[in-house]
Amino acid sequence: MNKKITIAIDGFSSTGKSTIAKQLAKELGYIYVDTGAMYRAVTLYVMRHLFVTETNFDEEAILRHLPFINLRFVFDEKLGYGEIYLNKENVEKEIRLMEVSNNVSKVATVSKVREMLVQQQQEMGKDKGVVMDGRDIGTVVFPDADLKLFMTASTQTRAERRYKELCERGENVAYEDVLKNVKERDYMDSTREDSPLIMAKDAIEIDNSDLTLEEQSQKIMELAKEAIAAA
Ligand code: DC
Repeated sequence: MNKKITIAIDGFSSTGKSTIAKQLAKELGYIYVDTGAMYRAVTLYVMRHLFVTETNFDEEAILRHLPFINLRFVFDEKLGYGEIYLNKENVEKEIRLMEVSNNVSKVATVSKVREMLVQQQQEMGKDKGVVMDGRDIGTVVFPDADLKLFMTASTQTRAERRYKELCERGENVAYEDVLKNVKERDYMDSTREDSPLIMAKDAIEIDNSDLTLEEQSQKIMELAKEAIAAA
């Protein structure tokens, strides 16, 4: 019988981590956890309740509100994965807005926020059979993950993908602003003190700048099968 394994997918923003992670989870019959959605949902909460922005940032107030933030993924049969609920409200769409993207990296620097979310992520993956994507999954959340992937792509490629995605969703954004946001988030995510985005020593790097989704899926599925066989 196939053993269930833990798959950690980390990397910069807009490297297509979630697309590949969802696909992999579906094919393997595993749970998919989008940890970025959790940081985004906390950000949405503090934007709504405390009017937090990068320049209006009251860390103590954020900490006081943490006990009132309840996050859950509710599985959707049609989609084949869970959507995120913030205090019983489906916020899957709202957390992807540019306003949230502009503030999330700053919220993700708060150690107590990270502590709370990492604990929830470890709980969700404790029985294995999980594909989790984020920035610190292979380094902090599951340092013993059976398969660790680190996705990269050029800044330009990622900004173009993100811009296309936002336009398709009907958001009125300028490409220059998207590029700026991608660069700023890269910088903040990889230079923060607590759990910066770094590639785990035992991770496999996948640069998908010049790979089609199909080529990438095939490669990753092979790696997953090898990891399952070796577990
Ligand atoms: O994957 P994403 O772009 O939706 O993530 C949003 C932000 O959340 C990202 O800028 C950094 C933060 N994040 C993090 O610090 N750790 C994670 N495991 C996932 C996301």
